[in-house]
Amino acid sequence: MENNWSDLINEMSDLLAPSMAKDHPNLPVVKEEGCYYYGLDGKKYLDFTSGIATANTGHRHPKVVQAIKDAADQIMHGPSGVIMYESILKLAKELKLVLPEGLDCFFFANSGTEAIEGAIKLAKHVTRRPYVVSFIGCFHGRSLGSLSVTTSKSKYRKFLQPNGLAYQIPYADVKGCPAGENPEEYCIHKLEKDFETLFNHQVTPEEVACVIVEPVLGEGGYIVPPKSWLKKIREICTKHGILLIFDEVQTGFGRTGEWFAAQSFDVTPDIMAIAKGIASGLPLSATVASKELMKQWPLGSHGTTFGGNPIACSAALATLEVLKEEKLVENSKRMGQYAHQKLLDLQAKHSVIGSIRSIGLMIGIEIIDPMSGKPDGNALLNILDRCLEKGVLFYLCGNHGEVIRMIPPLTITQDQIDFGLQVLDEAITEYEAEIQKEQLHLLQESR
Ligand SMILES: Cc1ncc(COP(=O)(O)O)c(C=O)c1O
Repeated sequence: MENNWSDLINEMSDLLAPSMAKDHPNLPVVKEEGCYYYGLDGKKYLDFTSGIATANTGHRHPKVVQAIKDAADQIMHGPSGVIMYESILKLAKELKLVLPEGLDCFFFANSGTEAIEGAIKLAKHVTRRPYVVSFIGCFHGRSLGSLSVTTSKSKYRKFLQPNGLAYQIPYADVKGCPAGENPEEYCIHKLEKDFETLFNHQVTPEEVACVIVEPVLGEGGYIVPPKSWLKKIREICTKHGILLIFDEVQTGFGRTGEWFAAQSFDVTPDIMAIAKGIASGLPLSATVASKELMKQWPLGSHGTTFGGNPIACSAALATLEVLKEEKLVENSKRMGQYAHQKLLDLQAKHSVIGSIRSIGLMIGIEIIDPMSGKPDGNALLNILDRCLEKGVLFYLCGNHGEVIRMIPPLTITQDQIDFGLQVLDEAITEYEAEIQKEQLHLLQESR
């Protein structure tokens, strides 16, 4: 393919729906490899986005690429059910080994949102109850079922309000704990109160099929809740016969420093949705539960044409092999801790950094206006543009787009982290100098 397609960007940019195609930074890329993108502009970019937590094994890992080629030489499409193929069976067997005990039966689909749809449908079939409870700020996908539990930004729900399907209560309010109180106890107390209010005033627990939660808040701003907060949710669900769903679409496959966040937090849900890192970038996801639960999902009541595609399953098998062989889950924990420490130094140096929130290589850097302490999405964009200019790609999250999302491939090295954070340091220093200059100018003008 012709590599110089810059004219196409201007000529044909309106052929792609802007709702997605104009996201930040929309970098034109001709090649990806390891922890790098190669831009159409001839520059090499260090990637701290991993295709939004997907390329956990690095971009185009040779083993994954080979597995894809080999699979394409044999079987390209199922669907499973019409035919049966080895890769889907082997994948189920291998996934079972890394998932929490008891999660041993799989419905494969293509995307995160489909895995969530499957999880909610399964919970409703099993319990015969109509309602779902989710947490404010969580992101679970954009199809209408998933959207009924997604509340990270109201713009996703505008004109589509899926009323009546789900109730929301607040996520762990880690930041809101009053001075002098224990944050963990504060979060748990608040959770118990919120459930009590919900059950007393809006929906009885007997009508709730499932509670769905991101074990680490992702798109909503990278918030790591206390372990005991998730344990309390587990306890409340068990007490009322409500199924607990973990959305591990983003947190899975080593991202949090364990295979899954369920293991990081030592809490096992009844149903799990997994995707993103599963196949190093090929579209694949799964709704996972115990055989006992899955058996209650009647034959033919759920299905898929493309889900569990043979090439994607082969890519997933290679992905699991690479994660194990290269000890990438361990690297995620180690490099995550290393980056967190370095970021604390940056926080001490720069007043625009509000807080650093991380678990493994899922790192959020909050950008604030130092005068007001309020989230500052404009400052963030200014800083990220400067980083891009210097060859490092970060992504963003948070309700106001105020949190820098640092989610490098799990293959990242210490030197690469050093380089990326040095660039971030420089970018923030430049931004702060520019703001100071502007303020000085305004002051002089007002005299
Ligand atoms: C936690 C979580 N759940 C669900 C989804 C939806 O996944 P997809 O975009 O593959 O439908 C995402 C995507 O970002 C996610 O981060």
